[in-house]
Parts: sequence; structure tokens; C-alpha cells
Amino acid sequence: MPKLVAIAGSPSPDFRTRSLVTDVLERMAQETGGSTILIDVAELVQSLAVRTRDEVSPQLAHSLRLMEEVDLLVVGSPVYKGSYTGFFKHFMDLVDYKALAGVPVALLALGGSDRHALVIDHQLRPLFSFFNAHTLPTGVFVSDSAFTDGHIADPAIRKRLSILVHEGAEALRLRASTRSLRAA
Ligand SMILES: Cc1cc2nc3c(=O)[nH]c(=O)nc-3n(C[C@H](O)[C@H](O)[C@H](O)COP(=O)(O)O)c2cc1C
Repeated sequence: MPKLVAIAGSPSPDFRTRSLVTDVLERMAQETGGSTILIDVAELVQSLAVRTRDEVSPQLAHSLRLMEEVDLLVVGSPVYKGSYTGFFKHFMDLVDYKALAGVPVALLALGGSDRHALVIDHQLRPLFSFFNAHTLPTGVFVSDSAFTDGHIADPAIRKRLSILVHEGAEALRLRASTRSLRAA
């Protein structure tokens, strides 16, 4: 069973980022039959005051291990000062640089203003290129005004989310078949 992991990069608990990545994670699991785990940076804020992997708490070590065994990753961060959040970046700084090579990664960002929608292509995509991950072509930016009572009504955003879920499932299938060809 493929392991699907989502990371919510907001340091604020129970906010929009968590709800969006959880929704996408569950839809990816329905399409692929994979297992799901959510890593919420808001729950790791205290643990992240470390400089190296040697200093991490058991809780943070567990989350990092989950990231390093993933088959498909869903990433969502709010925009803070024009980029992903510092807590999210510090979490990624502790991930083994070889662990995400070839892993399909869905990119999501949330912000107060549509003017920062390019955070996906200018900030998140290059970060995962560093890891040699396979970022999915469709990134989805959701502005605060698109959320009504925790739900997204805008049909254009909902369509992009559906395309992203489809791309994730296809990328996972391709990766599995390439791996079995290599193993044969
Ligand atoms: C410290 C801080 C900085 C922010 N900077 C930006 C920004 O540069 N651009 C933007 O569009 N929104 C910015 N926002 C708004 C958040 O990205 C937006 O409200 C997001 O939906 C918050 O996600 P959350 O509810 O999951 O925490 C900022 C919010 C905070 C708290």
C-alpha cells in the first residue's frame, strides 16, 4: 500500500492550511488506495528549536522518518512575507537530502493576497527541486477570500484541485511501474 504523507506548514493550529492539505490527502488516498499521515508543523513548533538531526525529540524524529519513507507527498504552506513559513523550511532543513528523490509532490499554498500566488513556482518548486523530487505540474494557490466556512466554493480552484489529485495518482502509478521494471 503506498504511503501518502501531507505536511501542513502553518505554525497556527487548526487553520486553513491543515484543512486544505487534509482534503487533498484524503482525495489522493481515495484515488490510489494509499495510507495517509498528516504532519502538522503547528504541533512541532516547540520541537523545532534544534540545529541538527542529532538534537531532535522523539516526536520530531518520528515525523522526519515518515517524510523519508513517503511514496507521495502533499505540501501546503501559508505565505508568510512572500514565501513559505520559516517553521516549514526549518522542518525541511532537517530532512535527509536524498530521501525525496523521484517522489511525487503536490504543491499547495495559501495567502491573503492573490498577488503572492507565484510562491508555488518561485519558492516551493525550487525547494523540492533541491531534493530531486517530482513536483506535480499543477500547483494550487488558495486565497483567504476563497474560503467560506472552511470550504472552497470557487469552481476554478476546485477544478485545479481535482486535476492535481489526478496528477498525483498518475505519478504514483508511473513510479510504481518504473520501480517494478527496474527490479525485474
Ligand atoms: C506573519 C504572517 C505573514 C503573512 N504574509 C503574507 C504574505 O506575504 N502574503 C500573503 O498573501 N499573505 C500573507 N499572510 C496571510 C496568510 O498567508 C494567510 O492568511 C493564510 O491563509 C494563513 O494560513 P493559516 O490559516 O493556515 O495559518 C501572512 C500571515 C501571517 C500571520
